[in-house]
Amino acid sequence: MIPLRGRGGRRLAAILALVALAASCGSEAAPRRTSRVTLTTLLPASEKTFWEAVARAFERHHPEIRVDLVEGPESTDLREDLYTASLLARDPTFDLIYMDVTWTPKFAAAGWLLPLDEWFDARERARFLPAALAAGLYEGRLFRIPMRTDLGLLYYRSDWLAAAHRDPPRTFDELERITRDLQAPPGRWGFVWQGKQYEGLVCNFIEVLEGHGGFWIDPATRDVGLDRPEAIAAASFLVGCIVRDRISPPGVTTYQEEDSRRLFQDGRAIFLRSWPYVWQLSQAAGSPLKGRVGVTAMVRTASGRAAGALGGWGLGVSRYSRHPAWAIELMRFAATLEAQRLFCSESGFAPAVEAAYADPDLLAADPFLARLRVLHDHAVLRPPVPRYALASDILQRHLSAALSGAVPAERAMRDAARETRLLLASAAPAGARTRAP
Ligand code: GLC
Repeated sequence: MIPLRGRGGRRLAAILALVALAASCGSEAAPRRTSRVTLTTLLPASEKTFWEAVARAFERHHPEIRVDLVEGPESTDLREDLYTASLLARDPTFDLIYMDVTWTPKFAAAGWLLPLDEWFDARERARFLPAALAAGLYEGRLFRIPMRTDLGLLYYRSDWLAAAHRDPPRTFDELERITRDLQAPPGRWGFVWQGKQYEGLVCNFIEVLEGHGGFWIDPATRDVGLDRPEAIAAASFLVGCIVRDRISPPGVTTYQEEDSRRLFQDGRAIFLRSWPYVWQLSQAAGSPLKGRVGVTAMVRTASGRAAGALGGWGLGVSRYSRHPAWAIELMRFAATLEAQRLFCSESGFAPAVEAAYADPDLLAADPFLARLRVLHDHAVLRPPVPRYALASDILQRHLSAALSGAVPAERAMRDAARETRLLLASAAPAGARTRAP
């Protein structure tokens, strides 16, 4: 019996199409309950424990299926490279692709993902946070289902601000002023964030960029805004945090999420820019930060917008999977409220399903969810262009040169703008990625 239920003919036709597709790839035919099937995906090692809960629950519903969770590197860029290498080789190893919000255009344009429209009708799509779902669309078709959402947030030490009679900052100037007054490095730094040359740096930058009223790439017109005054001011702000105002530690240029979080968690920073998972860790039993942390949207200038980068992770089905129908079944299970509870309650990840934000169990485990849903109004997308990975590489490289002091911010942004325009004007295949050395 085929595991996908309901909605009769249309669904059956789609299943048959999938089976034909799988057969044409030299793979197995439809899922059979008699043979044991293993579904495999690659994820960051730190998420494995939380995925285990979902995978084991799925296996209980379908005893003939085993879900193999392969631990990959923490960096989104490195996992993207691993998936890219595997898919370029038409390797059937990964049935499900655990995808960042930015991957859909590239992976879909390259033909590596199965379209999911047949399995997620309008009613089912309406269950997800709209921006998270939109990140799975490419040219009007659905290729990725969100599993968890991320949103860039500004964490602060509410106890230290209260003691100094300061309100949480709303502007860059206020943030700088508070940090200058309250910091005492190296024991207590002002503002920590993710400044390493990787995707996280881009997330930090777009928040500061929007905060200055600027933009990176307009997806509709392909305009590039990196050499505009707002973008140069944004880059100068980040450089200034390290070299001019010294409100960020010099080591920030090597930090990913966990490096910056540890500093904050150890009580060595006033402000931290990070994702929602930090909240639960900071408020856990035994945490020295329990009851001492506030969360707000990233700061802005008078004409800018308080913005949080929209991040998040979701599942797509590999075009080369030998078990596409089962892979879709697992994806559908992962999107149920039951699976969202299993995945989000212990991890502190923000759910992708709207109902989870009002779910009594999840709210009891973490009342912060209600506030997070409101903060989602500040979400800002990275540009959904097929050559996003290359555009991100360009930005990462030039920002990094500016942050390390190798080139002035203005020159870095002009160079980044020029290369981005050349990239968008050239017509290399969408799936190709050449990481800068
Ligand atoms: C988080 C976000 C993801 C982002 C990454 C950068 O995992 O969910 O969207 O690309 O951080 O480090």
